[in-house]
Amino acid sequence: MSQQIRTVAVIGCGVIGMSWACLFLAKGLKVIITDPVEGAEDRFRRYLDEAWPSIQLQLGSLQQEPAKNYEFVADIVPRLIEVDFIQENGPERVEFKQELFKTLDQHARPGVVIASSSSGLPSSAFIGQCEHEPGRILIGHPFNPPHLIPLVEVVPHAGTTPAIITTAMAFYRALGKRPVLIRKEVPGFVANRLQAAINAEAYSLISRGVISAEDLDTAVTSGPGLRWGVTGPIVTNALGGGGGADGFNTRLERLGPAIRGWEKDMLEHRFDWSEERLSLLKAEVGNYLTAVNWSELTRQRDSVLLQLLKSKPNL
Ligand SMILES: NC(=O)c1ccc[n+]([C@@H]2O[C@H](COP(=O)([O-])OP(=O)(O)OC[C@H]3O[C@@H](n4cnc5c(N)ncnc54)[C@H](O)[C@@H]3O)[C@@H](O)[C@H]2O)c1
Ligand SMILES: *[C@@H]1O[C@H](CO)[C@@H](O)[C@H](O)[C@H]1NC(C)=O
Repeated sequence: MSQQIRTVAVIGCGVIGMSWACLFLAKGLKVIITDPVEGAEDRFRRYLDEAWPSIQLQLGSLQQEPAKNYEFVADIVPRLIEVDFIQENGPERVEFKQELFKTLDQHARPGVVIASSSSGLPSSAFIGQCEHEPGRILIGHPFNPPHLIPLVEVVPHAGTTPAIITTAMAFYRALGKRPVLIRKEVPGFVANRLQAAINAEAYSLISRGVISAEDLDTAVTSGPGLRWGVTGPIVTNALGGGGGADGFNTRLERLGPAIRGWEKDMLEHRFDWSEERLSLLKAEVGNYLTAVNWSELTRQRDSVLLQLLKSKPNL
């Protein structure tokens, strides 16, 4: 654990905040939580009870009983003096975050990182009223659920200081996360843009009648998706070109011209979100999804994911 970070504030304890809080607790940190919604504390206790066994499975030897080192407070402001790191998980609304970050920046101790889980808003959109130390604000964008999925996208704004970036990266790493640094603010950051690119082509192929929705999913889960969990697109490309440092270039040269032809077709048939294409897509997807047993599928997914995470090196 980063040496100085012992107490974390979790601001907003919904889907993402609850999961972050579980992870912080599992790593032995003290967590001070605030969320104005009625019943937030009971909801969190139930979530923690349910999540604890899978956290235990993933992390190995943990105490049998869920950690109790957390506290719900109505007003976080007087408690910020105790806090060494802030993870914000409130609603994704720019005015809300502007107001909240102004307050957090005003009261957090100097040098304390204030990270937002925001999945779309870059922090430059909501630091305008921060008068003290806007350089300690950045995005720490997790993937749901953050207590299981290792990726965190760390997205500084142009004025975030290098020392703060280093502290945030080190903190997430010490939690067992795999933080990646996004060097420039772009809408959707990186992982969600990659997903959006795949999704756009999937919607296009399905709505054109090229493939069924079910087979489209199989074409990912039994093919490239299986490999992507181990080697990302770049190393996968290099291996496709015979591996080694030259493999990537070889593949570009060998397949580049053909791929440019596919891209022309992809652009011509790009999913345009028109009513017509949308209704074709929804009709085909609807047929597929009515047959899914959701409770069985979720159980299987979580169990396979846990086994995968346990067997995967360099987490
Ligand atoms: N859901 C996801 O898959 C996902 C993934 C990555 C990042 N995110 C981001 O995480 C953030 C939270 O998303 P979520 O899905 O957990 O939303 P959510 O609606 O489940 O949770 C938001 C919580 O914030 C609370 N809140 C409202 N006003 C508050 C205040 N003044 N102070 C403290 N808490 C307050 C709400 O009561 C609610 O419990 C968003 O910025 C979202 O973009 C979500
Ligand atoms: C769905 O799966 C669950 C768990 O395996 C099973 O108990 C249930 O009967 C299934 N439901 C249907 C409708 O097949």
